[in-house]
Amino acid sequence: MHASIRFLIGLALATGAIFSPMVLAHGDVTPQAVDVSTLKPLGEQKRDENPFRGDKEAIRVGTSAYNQNCARCHGLEAISGGIAPDLRKLDLDKETDIYFRDSVWRGKVRNGAVYMPPFEGILSQEAIWAIRSYLDTRHEEEAGPVNEMAALAKKSNCLSCHAVDTRGVGPAYREVAKKYAKDKNAEARLLTKLKKGGSGSWGKVPMPPMDSVPEQDLKSLIKWIMAGAN
Ligand code: HEC
Ligand code: HEC
Repeated sequence: MHASIRFLIGLALATGAIFSPMVLAHGDVTPQAVDVSTLKPLGEQKRDENPFRGDKEAIRVGTSAYNQNCARCHGLEAISGGIAPDLRKLDLDKETDIYFRDSVWRGKVRNGAVYMPPFEGILSQEAIWAIRSYLDTRHEEEAGPVNEMAALAKKSNCLSCHAVDTRGVGPAYREVAKKYAKDKNAEARLLTKLKKGGSGSWGKVPMPPMDSVPEQDLKSLIKWIMAGAN
């Protein structure tokens, strides 16, 4: 791991402050150890499937662990205020169990910016699966994307940081459209920005390079955003 990233995370964990979208109003700030002594010990080996699904005690432990460690970004009762993805929408299958486990352990660190701190060393495997069991009880089917372009934005991972009307990690798409409405060069500039990533237009939090998304898709997404993201 790059030294400055480690420093950033260390500081973030030590102070409970993370340097990204951190104007956070909910819940406790410092990561909290979770008492899992009432749960069946799982040992060292990582499980690929939630062993506690539906277990009442795990749900109880997970509820409190969620409120202490996750709610400040993902929202009270897992109702996201737009700062971080809505965890009620996670699918309930095994593939998503693995994705969940690894997301929480590793956090979301891209290009040196900590969007979510890694919980490895803070949360035990038992605690992570307990939180997942709690989130199962909050599960809601996602309303299908409203149209083809919204679906493309979702598939391209844009919607983990952006929403149409509300500010998330990044600006609301309608704010972007408004800001550049009179700017003829905006689309070309935004394409470069999406490919390279960067900060400064809306704040200090950088957008990671989105260059894994095909250029043609980026162009269509920009046109869609500039037209109001309808
Ligand atoms: C400091 C804010 C913050 C905290 C605290 C936090 N998260 Fe996150 N989390 C985020 C952000 C922002 C993202 C989206 C980042 C990205 O996509 O790069 C995210 C993404 C995720 C994802 C992937 C979701 C998806 O739809 O792809 C999962 C799962 C997740 N978080 C679970 C948790 C759990 C469980 C906790 C508590 C143990 C937690 N997070 C604590 C900010 C946070
Ligand atoms: C991990 C979070 C994240 C993801 C994923 C992400 N963005 Fe962003 N985006 C940001 C942030 C943060 C900013 C604000 C950057 C700044 O202040 O210059 C931003 C800014 C923007 C802007 C305005 C840029 C400017 O200079 O005004 C557009 C347009 C945009 N994003 C579109 C997209 C699209 C399209 C995708 C998907 C292909 C995407 N974003 C994926 C976080 C993200």
